Amino acid sequence: MRKPIIAGNWKMNNTASEGVELVNAIKPLVKGAKCDVVVCVPAIDIPAVKKALRGSKIKLGAQNVHFAEKGAYTGEISANMLKEYGVQYVIIGHSERRQYFGETDETVNKRTLAALAAGLTPIVCIGESLEEREGGLTEKVLSAQIEKDFAGIEDFSKIVVAYEPIWAIGTGRTATDEQANETIGFIRKRMKKAYAGKNVGKMRIQYGGSMNAKNCKGLMAQPEIDGGLIGGASLKAPDFAAIVNFDK
Ligand code: PGA
Repeated sequence: MRKPIIAGNWKMNNTASEGVELVNAIKPLVKGAKCDVVVCVPAIDIPAVKKALRGSKIKLGAQNVHFAEKGAYTGEISANMLKEYGVQYVIIGHSERRQYFGETDETVNKRTLAALAAGLTPIVCIGESLEEREGGLTEKVLSAQIEKDFAGIEDFSKIVVAYEPIWAIGTGRTATDEQANETIGFIRKRMKKAYAGKNVGKMRIQYGGSMNAKNCKGLMAQPEIDGGLIGGASLKAPDFAAIVNFDK
């Protein structure tokens, strides 16, 4: 059995003090959670949020990491820098980074390998655009991402994949339960084939894209869906807690 994992992606929201306020509100609401709970916060919020999370089971995540160990990469943050602060998870290859910051399958792959080498758990995002879905290209696009983004990984139990159809992110338009289940099932099957013998069966795959307090139960009831990567709804304590407590 794969343990469900619900992760909040705050994106570029919440100053450090706002972040502390939010986790202080979330903490008592998710005390009895049976799933893994993660908040992926802006890098500069990490020290304050880390302190605020003391005594809770909520894990700390970042939203990006550079692939080099160190060096002349102005503005970037290394995996070791995150690790030293107690960060355990890092989102890699979010569609917003691919769209606005020139992230490619190649850099996603390099960042993922660097995160793993430092002992972080990467949450690697893949997904198709609306145009690609409507053009019947979903499986082709995902297959290409699967081949490139995960090359060289030896143990897939150490990573999390987030399937995020780009057309569902921040749009209020969720994939149906069946659509999400079917596509995640396809991803798992395709990855098992591409990376046979590397623990793909133990790898968790989340759904992401307008997941909220209302639709989470239906999505989480699907056998292929192991969790959620939550944007908008992770910014409100009761909404995020309702998703974490999807099984209650
Ligand atoms: P959303 O974002 O929940 O606001 O659609 C999800 C994500 O981008 O990770």
